[in-house]
Amino acid sequence: MNKKAEYPPLFSLKGRIALVTGGAKHLGHAMAAALAAAGASLIVTSRSLQAARLAATALASRHGVPVLPLALDQTDIRSVAKAFGAAGRWQGRVDILVNNAGGGGNRRPRDFLSRAPRDAEELMQTNLAGTLHCCQEAARIMVRQGQGRIINIASIAGMVGRDRRMYQRSRMNGQAVDYAAAKAGVIGMTRDLAAVLGPQGITVNAISPGGFAREDLPRKFIRDYSARTPLGRMGREDTDLCGAVVFLAADASAYVTGHNLVVDGGFSIWQ
Ligand SMILES: NC(=O)c1ccc[n+]([C@@H]2O[C@H](COP(=O)([O-])OP(=O)(O)OC[C@H]3O[C@@H](n4cnc5c(N)ncnc54)[C@H](O)[C@@H]3O)[C@@H](O)[C@H]2O)c1
Repeated sequence: MNKKAEYPPLFSLKGRIALVTGGAKHLGHAMAAALAAAGASLIVTSRSLQAARLAATALASRHGVPVLPLALDQTDIRSVAKAFGAAGRWQGRVDILVNNAGGGGNRRPRDFLSRAPRDAEELMQTNLAGTLHCCQEAARIMVRQGQGRIINIASIAGMVGRDRRMYQRSRMNGQAVDYAAAKAGVIGMTRDLAAVLGPQGITVNAISPGGFAREDLPRKFIRDYSARTPLGRMGREDTDLCGAVVFLAADASAYVTGHNLVVDGGFSIWQ
């Protein structure tokens, strides 16, 4: 995505303010870049203010839009409230929230029988409760505005079970069941919140990505995963969520709410 891209009015985000949690790296950074390329001013958050600043500098110079870096740890309610307070004061509004922060958690054991309750609780706290807290703070701002877009990043893990043998064959840690629980919670929360906030002019949708390729994934796993994906490959981090997030943020999706947009190359439909 470069800054010269021209977006038709239905997909243009010129004049909008978008906040992306966990926007300093990986999928969050790619979605922030896509929103900036469509014309949005950005607020990027990270647990580390330093990481948020580095990302903000890169995004501002690449896309020529204003970018505010903020620290936000979504397991800490005070940190969430402080970040959204600063976000709301920056340009007086927040039009779009991309609730991206989360993920599979630390490297401790994830198989169900040896999973430490504390690790499971921590993961669900980050991915589910943290996402809920960010929705609540954003909604307080958006209700005052009478409009807004909330986009929650869930996962196909919240929709279908996963064949762990694929991970075992590549000697990988695999996915924790609590991750599936948290992401299913995000999808359910998205639907109900869409019902709550619809009358206030706010849409709430989810994006459920499938597996995205990373350099640290074993080649065998990437091959196995690709072979069981109808489109024949894993997701590409720089591009494959960009269209979905711009669509759900822009006027093109004005009448779409409570939807879970699956972006997985067909993985979840092929058993
Ligand atoms: N990568 C994939 O294949 C994939 C697939 C499906 C869904 N997802 C989801 O997409 C989102 C982004 O995934 P990613 O692979 O880029 O993840 P990642 O782990 O690389 O990044 C997630 C971001 O969340 C931040 N984060 C973690 N805990 C936090 C906390 N307590 N407070 C604030 N920020 C916190 C991290 O610092 C990071 O910036 C996540 O919600 C993840 O669950 C990813």
